[in-house]
Formats: sequence, C-alpha cells, structure tokens
Amino acid sequence: MRYYQEVGAYYDKDAKDFEKRYWNNKALQRIRQAFREEVKREPFQSALEVGIGPGFDLIHFAKLFPKAQVDGIDVSSEMVNLADSKLKSLSANNARVAVGSVENIGALFPNQKYDLIYVFFGALNTVEDLAKALEILKSYLNPQGRMVLTFVNKWYVGGMIWECLKLKPKKAFSRLKKVWGGYSPTEFLASRCYSSSEIKGISQALQLKCLKREGFSIFYPAWYYHRLHKLIPAKGLHILWQMDRAIAKGPLGSFGEYALYDLRVH
Ligand SMILES: C[S@@+](CC[C@H](N)C(=O)[O-])C[C@H]1O[C@@H](n2cnc3c(N)ncnc32)[C@H](O)[C@@H]1O
Repeated sequence: MRYYQEVGAYYDKDAKDFEKRYWNNKALQRIRQAFREEVKREPFQSALEVGIGPGFDLIHFAKLFPKAQVDGIDVSSEMVNLADSKLKSLSANNARVAVGSVENIGALFPNQKYDLIYVFFGALNTVEDLAKALEILKSYLNPQGRMVLTFVNKWYVGGMIWECLKLKPKKAFSRLKKVWGGYSPTEFLASRCYSSSEIKGISQALQLKCLKREGFSIFYPAWYYHRLHKLIPAKGLHILWQMDRAIAKGPLGSFGEYALYDLRVH
C-alpha cells in the first residue's frame, strides 16, 4: 500500500539516528519502562509487536521470557534489519521479525495467534484505518488474549497551553486536525492523533472491552520538551511523574501527551 510505503520510507531514513536519540532521552526511557510494566502484568506464551522499530521491546521480552514466542512487524525494512541483526547476534530463537503492517500478519506468520498484542510509541497513529486495523488485530488474539496499545493523544492540553504561551498557536492545535504531520518540525509524516472517546468508540464497536486507559505526560513534560527536562531539577521531574501516575487512570488521563489502553475480547 502506498501509504505504508511512505511511512516505511520515513522511518527507513530515521532508523540510523533513532536509537541514539532514544538513549539520550530519559523521559522516553521512563515512559517505555511504564509500558513494559503494563505488559508484564499478565503472563503470555505468545506475543506480537506492531511497529518494532530497532527492536528495543521485542528483544527485551524475548530475552525475559525465553519460553514465549515473540513476533514483530514493522513497515520500515531498515528498522526490521536493525532488530534482526540484534536477534542474530543474541541467537534468540524465540523471536521473529518481518516487514509489513497489520494487514500482512496472516501471510507473515501463518497459523499464529497471540496471547498478547502490543504497540509502543506510535505505529497505530500511522495506519490507514484504525477501526479496520484493530479488527484485524483482534482476529489474531487468543480467546483470553489482550492488547496493550499506546497512542499519540489528540488532547494534549499541557502541550497546547505551553505552545500558546510560546505564541505558536498553529503548533498548539495541530493534533486536532484530521492529518497531523508528526513530531518532526522538518519532516512531514501524515499521521492521526486520537482522543480517548474515539478509541473507546472504536473499541466498543468491535466488542473490545477497555479494561484500562492510562495517560502519560499530563504534568510531566512530553519527551520532546528537552529544554523543560533540562530546566526542571530531577526531584521536580520525579514529583511531576508521580502526580501523573496518581491521576493517569482518571478523567484527567485523557489529556496526556500519550495514552495506553488495555483492550480485551468481550
Ligand atoms: C516511533 S517508532 C517506535 C518504534 C518502537 N515501537 C519503539 O517503541 O521504539 C514507530 C515504528 O512503527 C513503525 N510503523 C509505523 N506505522 C506502522 C504500521 N502501520 N505498521 C507497522 N509498523 C509501523 C515505524 O516504521 C517505526 O519503526
């Protein structure tokens, strides 16, 4: 599909720097750790990751759970190559990676169903049709399976206020548009941000039960506010993080920069 070729080409270009940027970004590391904890909350024998990037989490879970089968897909062949070369050097034989999106899962991993499907950091903001993508993912879940899905959120109110204060109204409200250009100020990536009610509406229509919705970066500055992260002392950042964790599952959680959902088949 042409759209996935565009998304793949964008991340092919980004692949080389992606890892380096990540290891320099403590906020991203902190958020990823929280996502991982959510995944580890329940045991699984088989897992699928959509949008593996250079394989941070796929490799983490494959090493941590050597008896589980962990499969991963990504539309970027460069990202898949990075993950694959790490898997080879580790001789991890319980993980497989392949180039593709949700529509290709059945062809890439025939006859495989999963106890867990997870998506960390963005791949579902770049699918052609979210309802269709979730319906496909649901069809690959085992009956008691669950999905831990994370999304760039539409109503990031802290970011809106901050950008307005910086007199950047266009940036402040860019997530509300039907097409959002992605995080990079220089490279456009046609994406879509979703509100909590949109995700809940789609889940309900697909008879997926939302067990949890948790917001991230409500008060704690979003991972891309590097200057704020440098300005605020570590103790202050920790307090903001703790404040977020205290309110993340309540109504204010729908105003974070990021959101995590735990979805189950009814
Ligand atoms: C922001 S990166 C995150 C990578 C990784 N999950 C992480 O947490 O570091 C998003 C990744 O998802 C992939 N991706 C984007 N849209 C996708 C789609 N529709 N299907 C599969 N992979 C996709 C991109 O190529 C990219 O590697």
